[in-house]
Amino acid sequence: MSTTTTSPDTYSELLSKIESRTAVCGIIGLGYVGLPLAGALHDAGFPVVGFDVDPNKITMLNAGESYLKHLGDELATGLRDSDRFEPTADFSRLSECDAIIVCVPTPVGRHLEPDLSYVLDTARAIGRTLRKGQLISLESTTYPRTTRDEFLPALLETASQRLVSGEDFFVAFSPEREDPGRKTHNTKSIPKLVGGLDDKSTELATKLYSAGVAKVIPVSSAEIAESAKILENVFRAVNIAMVNELKVLFDRMDIDVWEVIEAAATKPFGFMPFYPGPGLGGHCIPIDPFYLTWKAKEYGLPTRFIELAGEVNHRMPEYVVKKCADALNQRSKSIRGSRVLIIGMAYKPNVDDTRETPAVEIAEQLMELGADVAYHDPHVAKIKGLRKYPGLEMQSVTLTEASLADLDLVLIATDHDAVDWSLIGRKASLIVDTRNAMTRASDVCATVVKA
Ligand SMILES: NC(=O)c1ccc[n+]([C@@H]2O[C@H](COP(=O)([O-])OP(=O)(O)OC[C@H]3O[C@@H](n4cnc5c(N)ncnc54)[C@H](O)[C@@H]3O)[C@@H](O)[C@H]2O)c1
Repeated sequence: MSTTTTSPDTYSELLSKIESRTAVCGIIGLGYVGLPLAGALHDAGFPVVGFDVDPNKITMLNAGESYLKHLGDELATGLRDSDRFEPTADFSRLSECDAIIVCVPTPVGRHLEPDLSYVLDTARAIGRTLRKGQLISLESTTYPRTTRDEFLPALLETASQRLVSGEDFFVAFSPEREDPGRKTHNTKSIPKLVGGLDDKSTELATKLYSAGVAKVIPVSSAEIAESAKILENVFRAVNIAMVNELKVLFDRMDIDVWEVIEAAATKPFGFMPFYPGPGLGGHCIPIDPFYLTWKAKEYGLPTRFIELAGEVNHRMPEYVVKKCADALNQRSKSIRGSRVLIIGMAYKPNVDDTRETPAVEIAEQLMELGADVAYHDPHVAKIKGLRKYPGLEMQSVTLTEASLADLDLVLIATDHDAVDWSLIGRKASLIVDTRNAMTRASDVCATVVKA
């Protein structure tokens, strides 16, 4: 890590603004990561300006309406009623901010190549009004060395004055570990890693985050922080793939993988349970590991674990569709012409996030085979404009005794708490369950096939 000689004034002035909570914080990208973070820094006492390119989000925040239901309405109304929060799409106002935190998307392209355009466009936007005494922290998940080798040059590309990183302004990477929908942790309670491009940047970013987050862990460089985040997500992707592979094998051997995991999880050390499912979803696990795979090619190295995990996990929707076909076949029915209801379109329980959701992939495959597919999801009223299936439009249907009795198959893709599992167990006749959800039903008359 390089240590720079910092003009004491610039560093100390910013430090004292952070300590006195007078530093204006700009959050760029008010989505799953940025919005709760804006709330945390606002609650810590800072004035916060929220930036987003989506005018609907700005309008809703101005009206105190929440577009992320899992965060609760109080966050949106609290921000609306505060004189220390302002949402805007006017990026010239970045000049007002002493600390700027970047929470924009980092998706992949059609060939799983990283798409850093959001991050780099944002860096150039910040660069246009870059001034002495600003701290910029990148939170978007990305491959190691992005902050130093790509984000910083993009910042400087549009800067109108000659400014030196670590002296005149400060840059850090602080990965986001947000897990929307998790009841036990939130932005304020999840320990946060911080790694700057230099020591002063690490110190300033640590100070800033410590005001709003219970535990902040400074690390020796931005590269350590970037790599730690990727390691965490590779760890999840690989372990989920392993358990998905074992699910298929155990099923063939007529052994219930869920019972196996429950039994293994009684070991108090050396084992951590991961659970199988219909495939990977969300903005992180299906995507982030491939950022590293792409970067590794530059170093002439393969990332075989990541690619194998991707291969196994990507095969899951097809496996689930095959289980549906087999289950219908047992009743002398085909997929073509069958009425199938998918329970849960969100990629995980108790959230409305449908990004990369395997449920949609399964729906598409079933429809292609001629099934009549509908879905029920208490959190997702409609499906529209998905990245992979832009033309697909569907609406959640209501669960009733009559509609359930009329179906050939119920496919459980996501196990939201708000679903009436007992009603499904009583009234459906055939269920394919990818989440072991029917163990929650008090009464099950249906045939249940685990998948
Ligand atoms: N969702 C999660 O649980 C999670 C967890 C950890 C890390 N992350 C990472 O955090 C980053 C953000 O993810 P997210 O889930 O919050 O995404 P999101 O899509 O929910 O939010 C991103 C926001 O950025 C806005 N945006 C896009 N381009 C912009 C631009 N140029 N300027 C300003 N705003 C812009 C979008 O309108 C959107 O509101 C990603 O890198 C992701 O990998 C996400």
